[in-house]
Amino acid sequence: MGGMYPPEFNCEVELSDGRCVQVRPLNFDEYDKLEELYTKSTEESLRKRFGWTDAREWLRSIKGCVDTGNLCLVAEYYNEKGKLHVIGDCWYFLDKNSGSAEISILVRDDFQNKRLGTNMMRQLVEIAKKEGLYRLFALVNVTNTPMLRIVQRLQFQFVHGADGSNLYRLDF
Ligand SMILES: CC(C)(COP(=O)(O)OP(=O)(O)OC[C@H]1O[C@@H](n2cnc3c(N)ncnc32)[C@H](O)[C@@H]1OP(=O)(O)O)[C@@H](O)C(=O)NCCC(=O)NCCS
Repeated sequence: MGGMYPPEFNCEVELSDGRCVQVRPLNFDEYDKLEELYTKSTEESLRKRFGWTDAREWLRSIKGCVDTGNLCLVAEYYNEKGKLHVIGDCWYFLDKNSGSAEISILVRDDFQNKRLGTNMMRQLVEIAKKEGLYRLFALVNVTNTPMLRIVQRLQFQFVHGADGSNLYRLDF
């Protein structure tokens, strides 16, 4: 496991309920591991994350993409029986021309509101800085309070997208 990314890209996160979760970059040949996360997420969460795109369809389309400059962090949790589960993903999708990247994140419903999203995003921001990115941005619906909490906590700035969308961005 791992090997393609430096060890400092991995971290341990303590959830607000005291449980511990490992966060690490997912390698290109491990994208299948996300299938379980998408299967166990509610339609509502998938809609917020993927819009009208089908999650599994999207996963199939991204599987063959190596060396795109994209990065996916996953949160992994060992349950009481010692079984490993992927309970969150947090991506940036790099536009190589501009050096900026769009963020997307999903935390499994039964692990939401325990600060996992905040911690994954914080780690993603640190990695983006180390990787020399110029800007991160997120399109956030005004009704998505948990995501708004995260971008505000991490000091993203609100800007109107060209199409009138709610854009939050962080410049380095
Ligand atoms: C957005 C998402 C990733 C957040 O992950 P998370 O692990 O729940 O986030 P955190 O626990 O770090 O932070 C969420 C914050 O929102 C708060 N919150 C949640 N629901 C809320 C509500 N209805 N009203 C006010 N605050 C709310 C939580 O209390 C928490 O704040 P706190 O840490 O100050 O207590 C998760 O909700 C998710 O996967 N949603 C579906 C997909 C999605 O929306 N992706 C983003 C698309 S841009």
